[in-house]
Amino acid sequence: MKKHIVLLPGDGIGPEVTKAAKQVLEAVAGRYQHTFTFESHDIGGAAIDQHETPLPEDTVEACKKADGVFLGAVGGPKWDQLPGHMRPEKGLLGIRKQLGLFANLRPVQAFQQLLHASPLKEEVVAGSDLLIVRELTGGLYFGEPRERRDNGQSVVDTLSYKRSEIERIVEKAFESAQVRRKHVTSVDKANVLESSRMWREVVEEKKADYPDVEVEHMLVDAAAMRLVTNPSSFDVIVTENMFGDILSDEASVLTGSLGMLPSASVRQDGVGLYEPVHGSAPDIAGENKANPLASILSVAMMLKHSFGMHEEAETVEAAVHEVLHSGFHTADLQLKDGVEVSGSQMASKVIEQISANDTTENIMRCYV
Ligand code: IPM
Ligand code: MN
Repeated sequence: MKKHIVLLPGDGIGPEVTKAAKQVLEAVAGRYQHTFTFESHDIGGAAIDQHETPLPEDTVEACKKADGVFLGAVGGPKWDQLPGHMRPEKGLLGIRKQLGLFANLRPVQAFQQLLHASPLKEEVVAGSDLLIVRELTGGLYFGEPRERRDNGQSVVDTLSYKRSEIERIVEKAFESAQVRRKHVTSVDKANVLESSRMWREVVEEKKADYPDVEVEHMLVDAAAMRLVTNPSSFDVIVTENMFGDILSDEASVLTGSLGMLPSASVRQDGVGLYEPVHGSAPDIAGENKANPLASILSVAMMLKHSFGMHEEAETVEAAVHEVLHSGFHTADLQLKDGVEVSGSQMASKVIEQISANDTTENIMRCYV
């Protein structure tokens, strides 16, 4: 299969982890005889420096034509003092909106080897395997009006949703649950917000189309609490943009492995943007310390969700598990009895695993 991939390295450790992602895609292409082509574009602070905007037009155009987009990270102290519309984060928000990527998928899985690094007791976090499905192009993030009023004495942000926007994200959550453990927790604030009451209504309507999936409704404050008291009780969590932003950060630390968590932002036709959940970590940028595994697992999500390459995705995930199992880890992971390696060494270990079966398979092919 031929696929064209746009790389958006961005800021801080973004370029390092993007390099690892590209190498992994090349290894997958090599092993499975695919042709992946690449082009890189600026976004975030890097784009502000080069083009005086966090999201140049040619970046958007290239992403619109791509089969998949990989983003490293955006932001850093260098651009913190700039006005709102010029901040690096605007690049990320803009590309999500312009590509119509309404569904943000953030899986959180407990890796046995990393449980001791969790801020929770091992027995609480063990077995956790949840997916946050966050609405990404509506709600408070994009609602209008948003402005200062009365000579700066009052301010307004707007939380608005169209029913159709709620319907499509709820459908995505049900579909995701169908290929997991068939349980959806819909999170809202229906005791206070009108938008949440509509959200609940839509979930209730839609559930008839997915009779195999069990649904529960939960208020966001209670959900925040249950994430730390009983995280393994969740399968799929679906929620609006701001609640999803907050809960996904909370969930990301549960398993003691922020440097491991991938994410996908997709729309219904499968086009997607894939990025590690961690940020640009400017303090370690350029030191070859950054853990590339979140990016590598994001590549696995791209293979699965945008290219329909399930076997390839599983090969990448298995390679990551295998390397961790062998005790290799980057500085952030602090495995008890492991071997610490640099970011690029970690990527090479995973690539070795991906390519490992190459020869055997080729030999097998000669005999059949
Ligand atoms: C995230 C980030 C972004 C968000 C920021 C950088 C705008 O926190 O991807 O969760 O709030 O969506
Ligand atoms: Mn966030």
